[in-house]
Amino acid sequence: MTYTIITGASSGIGRATAFTLADYNKNLILVSRDLKRLNTLKEDILAVHPHIEIQVFSIDLSAKEEVHRLIEVLDNYDIDILINNAGFGIAGPILESDTTSVENMISLDVSSLVTLSIWFAKKYKEVEGKQLLNVSSTAGYEINTRAVLYSASKNFVASFTEGLAIELKNNHYPLQAKVLAPYATETNFAKTSLGVENFSYQENYQKYHTAQQMSEFIVQLLESNQIVGRVNSKNMKFELTNTLLTWFA
Ligand SMILES: NC(=O)c1ccc[n+]([C@@H]2O[C@H](COP(=O)([O-])OP(=O)(O)OC[C@H]3O[C@@H](n4cnc5c(N)ncnc54)[C@H](OP(=O)(O)O)[C@@H]3O)[C@@H](O)[C@H]2O)c1
Repeated sequence: MTYTIITGASSGIGRATAFTLADYNKNLILVSRDLKRLNTLKEDILAVHPHIEIQVFSIDLSAKEEVHRLIEVLDNYDIDILINNAGFGIAGPILESDTTSVENMISLDVSSLVTLSIWFAKKYKEVEGKQLLNVSSTAGYEINTRAVLYSASKNFVASFTEGLAIELKNNHYPLQAKVLAPYATETNFAKTSLGVENFSYQENYQKYHTAQQMSEFIVQLLESNQIVGRVNSKNMKFELTNTLLTWFA
C-alpha cells in the first residue's frame, strides 16, 4: 500500500489537493499543525471515499526536531508522492521585517522542504513511479518587490527543485522532481501573509484561481513528464515546461 504525503493539508491548496487525489484513490498522509482541522478533513474525505487509508500528523514543520520526528514516522510507510506544500509569506519591506517571523518562514518554506526532499530523494531515487512536487510560486521566478523575503524563499524552492530534477535525470534515476508555481489562489495565504482577519481575492485581484483549480493543475503536473508547472500571470493559463532557470555545468 502506498501513500501520498501532502504538507499544509489543513487549508487552501493542500486541503483541495487532498480531496482531488482521493478521487484518484490515493491513500493520504496529511500533515500540518492543526490536528482538529486535519481530522475533520479526514472524516470529510472518508465520507466520500471510505476505502481510502488516511493518516494525519500534527507537526510544526518550522521546528527542525519536529521535521526529523516526522521523517522517523514516514520511514514506516511506502510513499509514492511527496507534495511539499506547507508555507506562508511575509509581505512588506525587508527593512521593516520581524526577524523571528522571517526565521520561521525560512524554516518552513525552505529548510523543512529541503530536509524532506533530500530524505525522499535519497530513499526513493531508484524506484519507478515516485514523484516529489515542491510548491514554489510565480514570485519564485522573479523578485516581487512587495514581498522580497517571500519571493527569495520561493526562488530557493524553484532553483533547488529544478536542480534536483536535473541531477536525477543526469544520473538516470526514475524519481521525478517537479515545481508548482501558482499565481494568486484563493486560500488563507493572503490573510496569513498580511496578518489580516479578512481578505477578498475578488476585490484585490482581477484574476485568481481557486484552490480546487490549483489542485487540478497539480494533477496535470504529476501526470506530465515536465518539470515545472507555472501559472502565466498575464493570461492565467497553467503552463507545463521543462526547466525555466538558466543552467551552466
Ligand atoms: N495562495 C496563493 O496565492 C499562493 C500563491 C503562490 C504560492 N502559494 C504557496 O502555496 C502553498 C500553500 O498555501 P495556501 O495558499 O494553500 O495557503 P494556506 O491556506 O494558508 O495554507 C497553508 C498551509 O500550510 C500549513 N502550515 C503553515 N505553517 C505551518 C507549519 N509551521 N507547520 C506545518 N504546516 C504549516 C497550514 O496549516 P496549519 O495552520 O494547520 O499548520 C496550511 O495547511 C504555500 O507554500 C504558498 O506559499 C500560494
